[in-house]
Amino acid sequence: MDQLLQQILDYKREIEETPVNGIDSLEAYRIRFLGTKGILKNLFTEMKNVPSERKKEFGQVLNEFKQLAEDKYDYWKKEIGSKTEESTADQVDTTLPGDLLAIGSRHPISLMKNKIIKIFERLGFSVAEGPEIEDDWHNFTALNLPEHHPARDMQDTFYIHQRPDWLLRTHTSNVQIREMEKGKLPIRIICPGRVYRNETISARSHCFFHQVEGLYIDENVSFADLKQTLYFFVQEMYGKNIRIRFRPSYFPFTEPSAEMDINCQLCNGTGCTVCKHSGWVEILGCGMIHPAVLENCGIDSNHFTGFAFGMGIERPALLKYGINDIRLFSENDVRFLRQFIAAT
Ligand code: PHE
Repeated sequence: MDQLLQQILDYKREIEETPVNGIDSLEAYRIRFLGTKGILKNLFTEMKNVPSERKKEFGQVLNEFKQLAEDKYDYWKKEIGSKTEESTADQVDTTLPGDLLAIGSRHPISLMKNKIIKIFERLGFSVAEGPEIEDDWHNFTALNLPEHHPARDMQDTFYIHQRPDWLLRTHTSNVQIREMEKGKLPIRIICPGRVYRNETISARSHCFFHQVEGLYIDENVSFADLKQTLYFFVQEMYGKNIRIRFRPSYFPFTEPSAEMDINCQLCNGTGCTVCKHSGWVEILGCGMIHPAVLENCGIDSNHFTGFAFGMGIERPALLKYGINDIRLFSENDVRFLRQFIAAT
């Protein structure tokens, strides 16, 4: 028994004197003193060999020792823990440049679309949107293009097999019809969006592309308003020196109808392949809204008049960014898209 007490004294000294200075030595300490086969456990099993009259004394000494061994362990654990935190914090070099985030860029079609929208917004037009899957009424019939009308041939599209009345819209004029049907006048909107046509895919045309159409209906809206609005638009878009010309044209939903050309921005009107040596590039179709279209939407055509126009986004984007193949816009090739990071 005295031998055991002496041993405990020796262990106490050991605990006081041996330095614990890292995770490894702390773990070694834990195993030696507190482990399942450690010193404390052994001393407790010795209890049964202690004569009963001294059990109390031994128990007291042993419990004190246990307390010491455990306190010591907790103390070092705390110390070493805070040191390891500090040392990993020390390893972070805050002077290094941060990790680069992959930043995307706007698609050239979006860039061009936003440019167009911004200009018309300054004239008081607001943006309206509508469905790409449309019914026959909103895409054709309400626009004075009844079934079997020959002008439907120019806008062949994709039909939904299960719903013969449904199709992929061929222009964003469907949005104009939907706005007119709401019955709130005056209307001054532009309608950007994706449209579809049954076209053979080539460098110059695709089976889907993008448009911005515009609509203005009020009392006393005239062709002069149409001309001046579009003239303002191209001046803002291409510069004050731009020249325009209107050519008579035909659309079932406008009367009179016109196509608007600008002088070729590449050759400045002297003739090149882009303008097919004419010096002019067609940029949009336009006209005064046909009275039948107004009536189809419940608007009194004796009281209200309006104009509409529609332009593609791809062609001006090709010209502005010097792109020679329309298919590049939808190939999702990051080598192409990355080139527009700094573009405006
Ligand atoms: N909807 C016509 C098209 O897609 C464009 C247009 C709009 C023409 C409005 C005149 C008036 O071809």
